[in-house]
Amino acid sequence: MNEATMDLKKDYSESVTHEALKAWVKEAVQLCQPDNVYWCDGSEDEYQTLCGMLVDKGTFIKLNEEKRPNSFACFSDPSDVARVEDKTFICSRLKEDAGPTNNWMDPKEMKSTLGGLFKGCMKGRTMYVIPFCMGPLGSDISQIGVEISDSEYVAVNMKIMTRMGKKVIDQLGSEGDFVKCLHTVGAPLTPGQEDAKWPCNPDTKYIVHFPEERSIMSYGSGYGGNALLGKKCFALRIASVMAKEEGWLAEHMLILGAKNPEGEKTYVAAAFPSACGKTNFAMLIPPKEMGDWEITTVGDDIAWIKPGEDGQLYAINPEAGYFGVAPGTNDKTNPNAMKTIERDSIFTNVAITPDGDVWWEGMTDEVPDGLTDWHGQLYDPANDKPAAHPNARFTAPAGNCPSIDEQWESPGGVPISAFIVGGRRSTAVPLVYQAVNWNFGVYAASTIGSEMTAAAFGEVGKVRRDPFAMLPFCGYHMADYFNHWLQFGRKLPNPPRIFVVNWFRKDENGKFLWPGFGENMRVLKWVINRVHGESGAVESPIGWMPRYEDIDWKGLDFTQEEFEEIMTIDRESWKREVLMHEELFERMYDKLPKEFFFMRELMLSSLWRSPKKWGLAPERA
Ligand code: GTP
Ligand code: SPV
Ligand code: MN
Repeated sequence: MNEATMDLKKDYSESVTHEALKAWVKEAVQLCQPDNVYWCDGSEDEYQTLCGMLVDKGTFIKLNEEKRPNSFACFSDPSDVARVEDKTFICSRLKEDAGPTNNWMDPKEMKSTLGGLFKGCMKGRTMYVIPFCMGPLGSDISQIGVEISDSEYVAVNMKIMTRMGKKVIDQLGSEGDFVKCLHTVGAPLTPGQEDAKWPCNPDTKYIVHFPEERSIMSYGSGYGGNALLGKKCFALRIASVMAKEEGWLAEHMLILGAKNPEGEKTYVAAAFPSACGKTNFAMLIPPKEMGDWEITTVGDDIAWIKPGEDGQLYAINPEAGYFGVAPGTNDKTNPNAMKTIERDSIFTNVAITPDGDVWWEGMTDEVPDGLTDWHGQLYDPANDKPAAHPNARFTAPAGNCPSIDEQWESPGGVPISAFIVGGRRSTAVPLVYQAVNWNFGVYAASTIGSEMTAAAFGEVGKVRRDPFAMLPFCGYHMADYFNHWLQFGRKLPNPPRIFVVNWFRKDENGKFLWPGFGENMRVLKWVINRVHGESGAVESPIGWMPRYEDIDWKGLDFTQEEFEEIMTIDRESWKREVLMHEELFERMYDKLPKEFFFMRELMLSSLWRSPKKWGLAPERA
């Protein structure tokens, strides 16, 4: 045992008064049989000690202190690079409560399977007890969890991603509620056995949720959402169940504030599937020519939203850091993210430069010489595999972000005036449209399609329905989730407007039709002005759409023809879209809101009457 491990011997466990928590930890110790148990206090010293241990083990590479202060990089096992949706289970007591879009197994049966796997799973390792709070400590909207994990990588990432440590135990007191999150990399060590640099179980992985018990068990993976259980497992899957029961929303949404040149601020929340632009949109820098617009960041991945007494919706970001996609991030696409990760960050599966800095595809046009790729090998650009894994990620503290909103830790949250939903669609879906009302907005969000990305194992590029970007994250029956949204809107005197966007439409040559990134401000400005009744639109077969003159084009050379191309609604491809809605509905027919059938009919009838190509210039149609 080295010095660093020795330091971690002294913890505060003796002073913990929460009997149920202590009993659960004791039970976990008996089951997992770790060599040591250590309760994380969340201090800076502890963080440095754990990072030091990861460096000693060869997991972490300390980056060049001049170029990237207080930062580390690591490479995962090639079997452990993304979320494992086919190994993710919602084990509600009844199968119908998990619904057709989730994997389900009887909780007793699952517990017996997991019992076998967890038995002795932490032999040769230290068990970390990681108390964390999702949301600002002390906020009514916040929730507490405790993750038990045998991974130092998890402990240090949780320190960045959540409010973590002894202060959470103090808040919990002796009776407080918490979500039990039990995690193991599933790689016990025999005495003397040398540890892997990225311990995990290459063959067996299980990410399991018990919604009625409010507990999570995760086996075999050390990566991202599989292992940092506060994130997708708790803040989305378990929280979505709480939210349905208690009348609020737990969503896969960024939250941003937009201040117009008059100084008025409007907050919006936006749902895009994994690796479809939430971080970029949340940190957007408006084109200067548009005047004094300013975008501020509240959150980049998850929003918890509650109705206030004034009838408005208020949102908090339950996280305290960003676990963001690295590839494609650069000083032009997302300068705020580049500044955020200048220091204090952990990089997973990026490439490393010979001078101890990081690199990934899209960071610079030129590939630096002498890179170490994410396999830890000298990189040869000629073998046309990327140097960084497409799902390489950075973990960085939210407070480092130059565009962080001054209200981002406000316990009451920020008021939400609009919802935006979108997907990655190279065809069919126009740049932007507004749903005619709440119900049509819920319908549109429920039927969003998106091409799959490297954020999860699966067929990258294949279009699938991803309702509200929640397909992999809803902890209960998807049709009940649609009903919850409809019901939620009925209670709001003036519900937020709902918009659909698509930054990813391409031409026949596969080139993006829309410049994206900062230029998305032009669409956002239209959205915000619509909310305030200040910008024009025309009615299309699928909703309200801006005309060319309704968008601010100052500083961008984007012609009316180009705009019309990206806004065109092709009747035949939209009929196909609506048929694909039916495929989704048919899977959940028994619980689907009846309104959806009527809305589908209305859409079909307006498409039926529309020209072959509905465009903004009738003479071209
Ligand atoms: P998760 O963290 O997985 O939930 O994803 P996210 O939605 O936060 O994704 P992120 O913002 O990190 O974007 C992922 C990828 O989309 C990056 O490679 C970006 O470069 C690319 N991207 C983001 N915004 C745009 C855009 O406006 N246009 C285009 N073409 N690509 C974009
Ligand atoms: C996503 O996949 O949507 C993410 C990354 O935000 S992970 O935390 O791994 O789920
Ligand atoms: Mn996400």
